[in-house]
Amino acid sequence: MPLRHLLAIEGMHPHDIGQLLDLAESYVLLNRSGKTQRDLLRGRTLINLFFEDSTRTRTSFELAGKRLGADVINMSVATSSVNKGETLLDTAATLNAMHCDLLVVRHAQSGAPDLLAQKVEAAVINAGDGTHEHPTQALLDALTIRRRKGRLAGLTVAICGDIAHSRVARSNIHLLTAMGSRVRVVGPPTLMPAEIEAFGVERHHDMDAGLDGADIVMMLRLQRERMGDGGLVPSAREFFRFWGLDAARLARARPDALVMHPGPMNRGVEIDSAVADDPLRSVIREQVEMGVAVRMAVLDTLSRGGANG
Ligand code: NCD
Repeated sequence: MPLRHLLAIEGMHPHDIGQLLDLAESYVLLNRSGKTQRDLLRGRTLINLFFEDSTRTRTSFELAGKRLGADVINMSVATSSVNKGETLLDTAATLNAMHCDLLVVRHAQSGAPDLLAQKVEAAVINAGDGTHEHPTQALLDALTIRRRKGRLAGLTVAICGDIAHSRVARSNIHLLTAMGSRVRVVGPPTLMPAEIEAFGVERHHDMDAGLDGADIVMMLRLQRERMGDGGLVPSAREFFRFWGLDAARLARARPDALVMHPGPMNRGVEIDSAVADDPLRSVIREQVEMGVAVRMAVLDTLSRGGANG
């Protein structure tokens, strides 16, 4: 079955994940060689529809589309007070009338890209929906890990911090467990979803124990914009003291452990600058590079499987 949309990692077959990563790998090499493949999506239209802020995700979809020759249109839709369901369906009707081929959607509501996928002809790619999923982020994280460690199976990955509000954590948990990694989630009880063990992960409420012997330390941003005023965390300084990653904490992980962060980083809140910028341990910039290659692979794959393909 050709992939029609990319809405979530949950439910994806490991074979399909592996194929996307292999194709992305070939795009890493192409990008590094400075060559382009501008005929692949020539005449196709990609619309970036972002209802939430973004720097790297939107830019890298734009770059990926352009490198493959698509016409790329960026629509930044500020969150409005209009009923969101209605707005979304109206938007879907408008986009359908424009005959767009690939629609990249970011939305504060979990499930919004699924709804759009039911209403538009285009292939829909979820670029992050609420606290649900962010599939291309998990794919680029997996590509980064696989290139550095040579595999995903058997690695111990500690995902740390604000698990409850993180679509990055959810997509990574689905992908990494499907590919045979051991996943630990590490953070304060207030930022941990109930029954997270049902996802096949190990829960830790102590940072040192959670990092012990880990191959990968994946830090998450503290997503205050999704917390309301519920007082889920103490001050930033307090958070860093218990849950921040610095060199001393990192020493609990394996000596060759890699440090990751999807960005944007809150330096001094979840991660210390010395660790974030350590060229021997941090692969945060490499994650951004892999993001372009992964999105090229996704656009390539969907343009062959989509309705207009
Ligand atoms: C993430 C997101 O938007 O979900 N950022 C990203 O896409 N690189 C993580 C975050 O906002 O903290």
